Amino acid sequence: MPIQYHASSKTFHLFNDEISYIFMILANGELGHLYYGKAIRDRESFAHLFVLQARALAPVAYRDDLSFSLEVIKQEYPSYGTGDFREPAVQITTSIGDKISHFIYKEHTMMEGKPRFDGLPATFSDGGEAQTLAITLYDELIACELTLYYTIFHDLAVITRSSRVENKGAQPIKIDRLMSTSIDFYDNHFVMMQLDGAWSRERHVQERPLLNGIQAISSARGASGAFHNPFLALRRPQTTESQGEVYGFTLVYSGNFLAQVEVDSYDVSRLLLGIHPFGFGWNLTTNEHFQSPEAVMVYSDGGLNQMSQTFHQLFQDHLMPKRWARELRPILINNWEATYFDFDHHKIIAIAQQAKEVGIELFVLDDGWFGHRDNDKSSLGDWFVHKEKLPQGLSALAREIKALGLKFGLWFEPEMVNEVSKLYRMHPEWTIGVPNRHKTYSRHQYVLDFSQAVVVDTVFTMMDKILADGLIDYIKWDMNRNITEAYSASLPADRQGEFFHRYILGVYQLYDRLITKYPNILFESCASGGGRFDAGMLFYAPQAWTSDNMDPIERLAIQHGTSMLYPLISMGSHVPTSPNHQVDRHTSLAMRASVAYFGTFGYELDITKISADERTEIVRQIAFFKQWQSVIALGKFYRLESADPNYYYWMVVSQDKEQALVASYKILARANPALKRFNLQGLNPNLLYYCPERELSYYGDELMHVGWLSEPEFTGMSGTDKGDFTARIYQLLAKK
Ligand code: GLA
Repeated sequence: MPIQYHASSKTFHLFNDEISYIFMILANGELGHLYYGKAIRDRESFAHLFVLQARALAPVAYRDDLSFSLEVIKQEYPSYGTGDFREPAVQITTSIGDKISHFIYKEHTMMEGKPRFDGLPATFSDGGEAQTLAITLYDELIACELTLYYTIFHDLAVITRSSRVENKGAQPIKIDRLMSTSIDFYDNHFVMMQLDGAWSRERHVQERPLLNGIQAISSARGASGAFHNPFLALRRPQTTESQGEVYGFTLVYSGNFLAQVEVDSYDVSRLLLGIHPFGFGWNLTTNEHFQSPEAVMVYSDGGLNQMSQTFHQLFQDHLMPKRWARELRPILINNWEATYFDFDHHKIIAIAQQAKEVGIELFVLDDGWFGHRDNDKSSLGDWFVHKEKLPQGLSALAREIKALGLKFGLWFEPEMVNEVSKLYRMHPEWTIGVPNRHKTYSRHQYVLDFSQAVVVDTVFTMMDKILADGLIDYIKWDMNRNITEAYSASLPADRQGEFFHRYILGVYQLYDRLITKYPNILFESCASGGGRFDAGMLFYAPQAWTSDNMDPIERLAIQHGTSMLYPLISMGSHVPTSPNHQVDRHTSLAMRASVAYFGTFGYELDITKISADERTEIVRQIAFFKQWQSVIALGKFYRLESADPNYYYWMVVSQDKEQALVASYKILARANPALKRFNLQGLNPNLLYYCPERELSYYGDELMHVGWLSEPEFTGMSGTDKGDFTARIYQLLAKK
C-alpha cells in the first residue's frame, strides 16, 4: 500500500520507491506537515518530527500551552487568521463578512486509481498505477467541508493534489482562494526556477535564490501566458542537470494562476500553487461545491533531467489523450510564413504538391481561409469558407490535397471575434466587456464570452459543420489575445469573481466536445505561439505550438526551457526560411533542422521557392527524422551540462538504450577557443556504440565519464567547426 495511515500516531505516509510525503493530525484537529522528499522507510509514528517551540509574541491556540502556535507550525493546508500570519491556502468569506475558518479533521478514505473531476483536465490512472487519499476537514461554525485529494503514482516520483470546498450550511459563503497545493518546507536553502518570457521568447529559464518574504509568478490575463509558465521548481543550490535535489510543481490548468513561495522569519518556505486569488471569488450556496484544478508535484534527487523526465513520462502516459500519447506525428508543412493571408486555391495546391514530393505528410492551412479574412482586421467568428479566395470551397481543396497523399489540417481561433464579422453583428453581447465601458482591442479582436454555454454551443456548431465531411486530420487551435474588461453579461454582480474560471471551463468544454466527437483529429494548441502551453491544454491537445519564433538560435533557449516539463512529442517545431521572420537572422538549413528535430518537426517556408540543393537537403532531413522519430518521440531526453551559454548540448536515448542521438550547437564563433567536451547521459555503460559520423566506436561508460570531444572549432589556422550558428548531430548505435 503506498498510502499508510497510522491511527496510533494519526499520521499519513504516502510513499513509493522514490518519494515519501508525511503529515499528521495535530492536537487541535488541523493537519501538520512533516516531510516531503526522498523515500524513507515507513514507521508507526513520525510524531518526533513535529517540534513545538514557544516563541515570544506568538499567538497560541491553547491558553496554557505557549508552544502551540500556528505562526510557527508547518501546516498541510493553512488558513489565515487564527495565529498564522502567512498567506493561506484557503480563505472563505462567511455570511457575516469575516474571513476566518478553522478546518478540523473529520474522516478520510483511500481509493485505488484516481477520481475524475467534472469539467477539469487532470492526470489519470487506469487503476493499478496510483492510489488516492481523500481527507475531509470540517468547519462547524460555517458548516463548510474541505476535502484534500492526494494521488501518488506507484512508479513515478509524482504526487498530485486538488482541493474541494462544499457548503453544507444554510448560509451562503464565498471562496476567496482555494490553492491546489501548499507545502511548508523546513528550510529556504533553495533556488527558485521559473520559465519566463513574452511573445516569441517564451519559457526562458530564470532563477533566483529564495529570500525572506514573498516571491511569486502569476497570470491574471485569462490564460496561463507566455510571460510566466505555470511551473515553479525549487532546487538545491548545488543541483545541476544530472545530480542533486529538485522539487517541480505545475498546475493542470490554463487560466489565471499564482505560484509563490513565502519564506517566513524562521526560514520555513511555504509554497502555494493554484488559481490566482486576485479578482477571484466563488459563491457557494447550500450544497454547492467548488473543485480546484490539479497540482502536480515531482521530486527528483537525480538533478533537473530526472525531474523533467518524470514530468514527460507522466504527461505522456497519464495526461495526453491516449490516442495520441505514443503516436508518431505527421511531418507537416504550414503555409503561414510562406503566404500569410495572401493565398488562393492554386498557390496552396502548388505548395502541397512540392511538399508531397519531398516527403512531407500533412499540409496545414493556417489563418485566412474563412469569412472575408484578408488581414487580421476581420472575420474571426465567421467559420465558413472565404469564397473569393477559395471559390471551389474548402472540401474541394481538402480533397485535392488528400488526393496527393497528404493529410489536411486547418487553423481556427474559436474563442475570438472581430468587430467586422457576421457573428459580431448578430451577437455583440457575446463579447467580453463591461456594459457602457470602452472595450480594449488587441490584434483588432475581442474575446468571446466562453462562460456562456450558448456561445460555446454556437462555436461548436460552426466548427462541427466544417469538420463533418471527415476531411480534416489536424486542427491548430489558436488564441491571440488576452482578456481585458473581464466581465460576463450572463453573471450576476456578486458572481463576477467566477468569470475567469468559468471562461476557461468553457474552453475546456469545447475542446472536450470536439475531441470526443472527432478523436482522430490531432489538435495542436497555440496562443500566438507558446502563450498557453500548459498541462491543462495537453489533456486535450497533445501538442502545442512552442513559439512563433522559429529562428534556431532563439529556439535553443525556448526549447531548452520548454523541455523542463513538456515532452518533445508535445513541442511543435518547424524549419523556417532564412533570414528568419522574427529576428532576421541568417542560418543554414542544416542548423534550422538540427534544432527542429527535437520536437514534432515540420516546415514553415515557401517550398515553391527553394533551390534544387535545398530540396535535396530537405529530402535527406525528412528521411533522417523519420529514421529517428520514434527515439525522439518515445525515448528519454537529456539536456547535457554546458558551462558556457554559447553552447547547447542535447541528447535523446531510446528506452532500450541501444540508440542515441546527440546534438551539439554553437551560437557564435570565438577566436582561438578551447576544445570543448561534454558528458553524455543515460547510455548503457557496457555497450559499444558506433558513431557513423565519426566512423568510431565508444563504450557507454567512456561517453558518460570521459565525455564527448566536440569538433575542433576554427582557430585561425585549423578547425572543422567554422563560423557562427553551427550544429552537429551524431548518431550512436549499439553494436550487436
Ligand atoms: C498566431 C500563430 C501563428 C499564426 C498566426 C495566424 O500568431 O501563433 O502561427 O497561426 O497566429 O494569424
